[in-house]
Amino acid sequence: RCPALRRLSCAGTLAADFRREEQPSGSAETGCKDKTPMKTFSEVQDGRREQAQRTVLIQCPNKISEKKFLKYLSQHGPIHSHFFYESFGLYAVVEFCQKDSIDSLLNGTQIPTVGTEAVIPFRSRFFSLKLKSPSGHITEKSPVQPSNQLPPSSKKLSELLCSAESVADQLTTLLKEFQLTEENTRLRYLTCSLIEDVAAAYFPGCTVRLFGSSVNTFGKLGCDLDIFLDLEETRKLGTHKSMGNFWMEFQVKSVPSERIAAQKILSVIGECLDHFGPGCVGIHKILNARCPLVRFSHQASGFQCDLTANNRIALKSSELLYIYGTMDWRVRALVFGVRCWARVHSLTSGIPGAWITNFSLTAMVIFFLQIRSPPILPSLDALKTLAGTEDKCIIEGNNCTFIRDLNKIKPSENTETVELLLKEFFEYFGNFAFNKNSISIRQGREQNKPDSSPLHIQNPFETSLNISKNVSQSQLQRFVELARESAWVLQQKDTAVPSPSSKLPWGLAALLLPSLTQSKKKQKKFGNERLKDLLESIKSNSAESSTNTSRK
Ligand code: CTP
Ligand code: MG
Repeated sequence: RCPALRRLSCAGTLAADFRREEQPSGSAETGCKDKTPMKTFSEVQDGRREQAQRTVLIQCPNKISEKKFLKYLSQHGPIHSHFFYESFGLYAVVEFCQKDSIDSLLNGTQIPTVGTEAVIPFRSRFFSLKLKSPSGHITEKSPVQPSNQLPPSSKKLSELLCSAESVADQLTTLLKEFQLTEENTRLRYLTCSLIEDVAAAYFPGCTVRLFGSSVNTFGKLGCDLDIFLDLEETRKLGTHKSMGNFWMEFQVKSVPSERIAAQKILSVIGECLDHFGPGCVGIHKILNARCPLVRFSHQASGFQCDLTANNRIALKSSELLYIYGTMDWRVRALVFGVRCWARVHSLTSGIPGAWITNFSLTAMVIFFLQIRSPPILPSLDALKTLAGTEDKCIIEGNNCTFIRDLNKIKPSENTETVELLLKEFFEYFGNFAFNKNSISIRQGREQNKPDSSPLHIQNPFETSLNISKNVSQSQLQRFVELARESAWVLQQKDTAVPSPSSKLPWGLAALLLPSLTQSKKKQKKFGNERLKDLLESIKSNSAESSTNTSRK
């Protein structure tokens, strides 16, 4: 594989998914053409799921001998891979070659006794490794090398960006530093699989699926873990077993709507995670949201988890984003650049509220790349036209059909540089007629806005919905002003390119400066508006009806 591919390959998807990635300075020179067929989204998901089921999470003593640790564990079967990481202690993620090894490990593990307290004897794939005689343990000369799970500090990022050679190089650096690593991706699938084990105590054979930025190729280190409980298989099981004049049905309880069913199921699983789930803390049920969810922290992995039920459309939109993100390397480079820019300027926030979300920003970048001439990305309608019968997909009456085999999509003929695209993205949205137009990645064209919400981005599958319904006029205004200022910065000779004489941040580094040409007065005005939006957000969150938590 050529170095450019290796540099950019994203762990969220298998490396082979990126055969069309090219070096920003032009691939014609490198002549790099990898003909490895690209995996479909489901192939990647299935592979990762199966891998996670052969994997365990182990909290380890701080000074551990890696060699002895592996020797001890391999008595249960051969180990395929492992890594260590730190998060309030040392943890190891160990992948066995066979699933049977996990049973052997479970059988050889004890439930602890904790002084005067009582323990809940819940057996899971999350273990603690204990030393028989801690004092007698010989400290290794070379301690284990924990893998990093965090994005770079802003100081380190600024240094890296300033020493890059061009804006394109800066974008590539940003992508490389922020994208999910192989280890982080494994930890995400493992956490999801551990939650599935808890849910399976109630619904044997259920699946807990990972969606959102953990899987759509746009995940940044530190992003949340979006998971949903999928009971489709449980519903389907046994449907073929009818014989003669009979068939058998389970006796079940029924409730008035799917929504109520989801609320009941999530409520109970939330309780279960709270009371029995090792490492699951801060459980918060947000059942009155449009899409009911349970939010909690998985302490050992450090992930903030959002568990929903029956969220197949969101999984489908993750698949669509995966396709867009994998089609052309410029897509992810731009999305990462724009997401980081928005985060630095507090346009996005970890708290649900009136601000723009990463999902909306991604849709804006995709839309912008659809309207280039020639287009860099096809519209969703064009992807639907390319679909075969095997791609047909209707979810809850919504047509979610599009081509899923990346190998059948022709690469774009557009050769614009990522540098130009970034500048023009800011220019385009700095002057977009938000008051009358809506953004539609389904059609790949501006549409008339169907309602009066400040920002209207059509949900690609539930086309009557607006994915940015929560965004306030003042937040949109902030976005527009910052976009204009950023386009201006990228046009200036002294800030657009590196200058050997001055040490001033340039290009992307200049855009990521928190002050970005804002006057004190303007900063104060925006500060006040943000405070107002924050208060609004707290009010609506406490009423548990935030629209932003909605996945639909
Ligand atoms: N989603 C949606 N409609 C919304 C919000 C979210 O369909 N109004 C779906 C999208 O598939 C999105 C996923 O839910 O990717 C998870 O939402 P969220 O966590 O807000 O966005 P992410 O894309 O995961 O981005 P982030 O890195 O900020 O978590
Ligand atoms: Mg997310």
